[in-house]
Amino acid sequence: MNMHNSAHDELHAEVAGQFDTTAMATETTLLNPRFYTTDFDEIDRIDVTPVRKEWDALLAQMKSDPNKGHFKKTADWNQIDWEGMEPGLKREFIDFLVSSCTAEFSGCVLYKEMKRRGNNPDICELFSYMSRDEARHAGFINDALREAGVAVNLGFLTKAKKYTYFRPKFIYYATYLSEKIGYARYITIYRHLEAHPEHRFHPIFKWFKEWCNDEFSHGEAFALLMKTDPKLTQSFVNKLWIKFFLTAVYSTMWVRDHARPEFHKALGVDIEWYDQEVFRKTSTISRQIFPIELDIDHPRWKPRLRAMEAAFRDMDAAKRQGGIVGRLKGWAAGARATLAFAALYTIPVKRHALPASVRLEPSY
Ligand SMILES: [Fe+2]
Ligand SMILES: [Fe+2]
Repeated sequence: MNMHNSAHDELHAEVAGQFDTTAMATETTLLNPRFYTTDFDEIDRIDVTPVRKEWDALLAQMKSDPNKGHFKKTADWNQIDWEGMEPGLKREFIDFLVSSCTAEFSGCVLYKEMKRRGNNPDICELFSYMSRDEARHAGFINDALREAGVAVNLGFLTKAKKYTYFRPKFIYYATYLSEKIGYARYITIYRHLEAHPEHRFHPIFKWFKEWCNDEFSHGEAFALLMKTDPKLTQSFVNKLWIKFFLTAVYSTMWVRDHARPEFHKALGVDIEWYDQEVFRKTSTISRQIFPIELDIDHPRWKPRLRAMEAAFRDMDAAKRQGGIVGRLKGWAAGARATLAFAALYTIPVKRHALPASVRLEPSY
């Protein structure tokens, strides 16, 4: 577990009130979005015959490129006063945009590499559509950052960012989840701001509805890929891995969102409500392919998430403090975070039978 020297990096990231967003995006911590690499040959060998009918329908839809014209600024895009933005909100909002842009671009890099290395026409076609979409998403967020004068240097990021190796099955679990959770996050914010437009402090949120449909389709594609090999979701060991990824992805989101109180206040969103809502949508959707779901209403769930978040905050404070005392406090807080994770991981799951057909349409 590599928690970076974040106090030091923050100094670098904020020089004279300016944000070095490329450094923020390049940094590798437990919580920041990562870049992935994998065994591309193994993925290239997937035979989609068992899901051919659903596969062809999904790819035809992706080929038609429904969002081709969507990621362009229109009259709906109003200029905002970055200079006049309250500094705490500005810092957290830029952090949100940088982290979203990094996550989008991480997908773009991974998918493009798969397309480049593959020979399997089905796989190459899918990954070319997905990298096309993620490039647009990352580019659109970066345009918003550019208006604030702090665009991320994505070319530099490709070279400088550390790549984490995940074997293909872990890529399926992690990427499927991040696509579906991405959908749930974007649509939940979109619907909230639809009901409370006075909280829409930046125009980018108006683009989230069509945007999240792309993420939904990407998730559908990974569900179909997993469906080609029932072992991936049915074996005892793999169910434990699925539970691990669900717990890790949900708890990371919780900790990370709680680090942005001003951002959520400006949106008029209660963070616990928002996170639970996103977990609920993601869990409901993932019944399409995961035979288990986390019990997010279990009495231990929220208290242990809160404990984990407090431990992360203390780890951060300990790092700022530095020295031997800081290090000892850091270890103690790290141990608390691990215990909280274990307490979450051991909450009994809810089980259900998988539907015969995987495919879903976005419905929120
Ligand atoms: Fe995306
Ligand atoms: Fe995506």
